[in-house]
Amino acid sequence: MKSSLLISFEGIDGSGKSTQAILLKQKLEASGFHVLMCREPGGTPVSEGVRNLLLDPSLEIGPFAELLLFSAARAELVRTVIQPALAEGTIVILDRFYDSTVAYQGAGRRLADRDWLNDFNQRVTSGLQPDKTFLIRVSTETAADRMKEQPLDRMELTGREFFERVVDAYDAISREYPDRVVSLDGTLAKEKIHDIVWHHVSRLLPDDGTAFRSASNAIADTGGS
Ligand code: ADP
Ligand code: TYD
Repeated sequence: MKSSLLISFEGIDGSGKSTQAILLKQKLEASGFHVLMCREPGGTPVSEGVRNLLLDPSLEIGPFAELLLFSAARAELVRTVIQPALAEGTIVILDRFYDSTVAYQGAGRRLADRDWLNDFNQRVTSGLQPDKTFLIRVSTETAADRMKEQPLDRMELTGREFFERVVDAYDAISREYPDRVVSLDGTLAKEKIHDIVWHHVSRLLPDDGTAFRSASNAIADTGGS
């Protein structure tokens, strides 16, 4: 059993990632685990600043600058938040990670070949990879319908063909990494999707109660020493 756990959620905008990330966090915490949830881009002062730039609909950003900005935000998140949390035995849930870059910048923007991008991403994350990734699959129509009430950000304003390439790229990722990536039907009820997520995550959890426990439980478990 590993002594750290990193779980990511992926999918197009409006697929239901954040909903599932929150449900999983609540379930893990109710089970006594210490959990950290982060969104990408974001999660550090630098990364949140970069996020504001990236999502600002009034800015025009070239594809390569976009790749570097998402990656800069990720490098800071990994260095200052994710790695320290994992080192403490916290379970980290990520609302997007480097698969987003492969899907959105690599395929969506048709920016770079996969080998180059995979190598680049590994450098950005210092080699960190999720233990399990949940890909929430919905059509671009379903996603657009779910987001029709909200103002769209710079990425969401990109055309339909862009998002079709992103959908296809995510499916290619799930085929390429069948052990890591669990592909889920995002049109199922939220609770049903959560049940499937929990089925997979619970198999990764220690059953002896020693790892990933919240700090207070850890003290209780060791008699307060
Ligand atoms: P994302 O983080 O992928 O952009 P959200 O979790 O914010 O997606 O969900 C987008 C919208 O879709 C929200 O209004 C949410 O309540 C709704 N939603 C999420 N999951 C489902 C689902 N399984 N079925 C129907 N609607 C959903
Ligand atoms: P956000 O509102 O966090 O995502 P969502 O709409 O899924 O809840 O916006 C993040 C946007 O940035 C989203 O359109 C996906 C995009 N993105 C990339 O293009 N590349 C990346 O590497 C990441 C992390 C996100």
